[in-house]
Amino acid sequence: MTEIKASTGPRYARILSVGSATPSRVIDNEYLLQFIDSSDEWITQRTGIRERRWIDEGESIETLSLEAARTAIERSGVPVDQIDAVILSTISHYHQTPALAPKLADALGIPDAAAYDISAACAGFSYGLAQAEGMVRSGQARHVLVIAGETISEITDLTDRGTAFLFGDGAGAVVVGPSETNGIGPVVWGSDGSQSGAIWQTKGWQEAVAEGTWPRLGMDGRAVFKWATSFIAQAAKKAMDEAGITPDQLDVFIPHQANDRITDTLLRYLKLPESVVVARTIRQLGNNSAATIPMAMDALLSSGEAKSGQTALIIGFGAGLVYAGQVITLP
Ligand code: UT7
Repeated sequence: MTEIKASTGPRYARILSVGSATPSRVIDNEYLLQFIDSSDEWITQRTGIRERRWIDEGESIETLSLEAARTAIERSGVPVDQIDAVILSTISHYHQTPALAPKLADALGIPDAAAYDISAACAGFSYGLAQAEGMVRSGQARHVLVIAGETISEITDLTDRGTAFLFGDGAGAVVVGPSETNGIGPVVWGSDGSQSGAIWQTKGWQEAVAEGTWPRLGMDGRAVFKWATSFIAQAAKKAMDEAGITPDQLDVFIPHQANDRITDTLLRYLKLPESVVVARTIRQLGNNSAATIPMAMDALLSSGEAKSGQTALIIGFGAGLVYAGQVITLP
């Protein structure tokens, strides 16, 4: 049998840098009350959300993704010709083909990168990070740019009491590259397609065209809440176990920002010490789907609440249903 050379790479990978972008339009809870029978008090108490940001004219998934990616690349100091792959995680790029990642790579001046989009909803950043880590360590790419960009406001049904207040737009990006020490723990990920009806796009292309109406996002909030507070709590614990980390070794916890009450339940289950810094960006940014975790990471690092080199647990979960989480070293 003819021997085929295998790709080989560095032993370890880490996140070298992070960047994020938020759109300009601030939407407070009060604004939404013209569309749904609710109250600022209910939304704040049941979710933690006080406001979120939505795109305005001139802003799009493309502009937000580019802004986040430019910041991440600049902070990494990695020349663009050393980025061999660009992954965009999104569920709100409304062209099935071509993927947006090649266009973003071109706009960023990254020559000849492998570039593709992935659809793993709110777990999308951790899915992309797992792929990037594998690509770097196997030698398939020297550096990987992982972007997560979402404009869920465009598919939000403003009259739906169950979702109208939840989502915000935004983007986050990281550059993943080789490292002397390990900065990305084993990914714990999976899916439960039997719950594909828990969060869904209300119609496919054929139906939308036939009816002449735009699809929206639907959600069985209670079912997702139950799954997140039971199964996802166990998955988060598994990510720590697989990385060989105990709660007292953790500095920062960045769970998907779906609901402050879900975060509280995860904290109780994981028994994290009081000293652990916990992301609560949902209060100002809402749920940014795939972009949530890198946006929260950047916010915590920029505010000084978290520091470079600290150990963080990240976990995302959402439509699919899908989930993914890792222990990481903060860039
Ligand atoms: O990123 C994807 C992952 N998504 C998630 O993780 C979302 C998980 N789910 C949730 O965060 C929560 O289920 C929601 C925030 C979406 C809803 O909160 P909830 O506590 O599960 O509300 P519920 O549907 O169980 O309804 C409780 C009560 C009901 O009233 P009664 O029957 O107790 O009198 C609802 O009619 O709250 C009422 N209600 C509202 N009241 C004011 C439901 N929606 C609203 C509303 N404003 N928007």
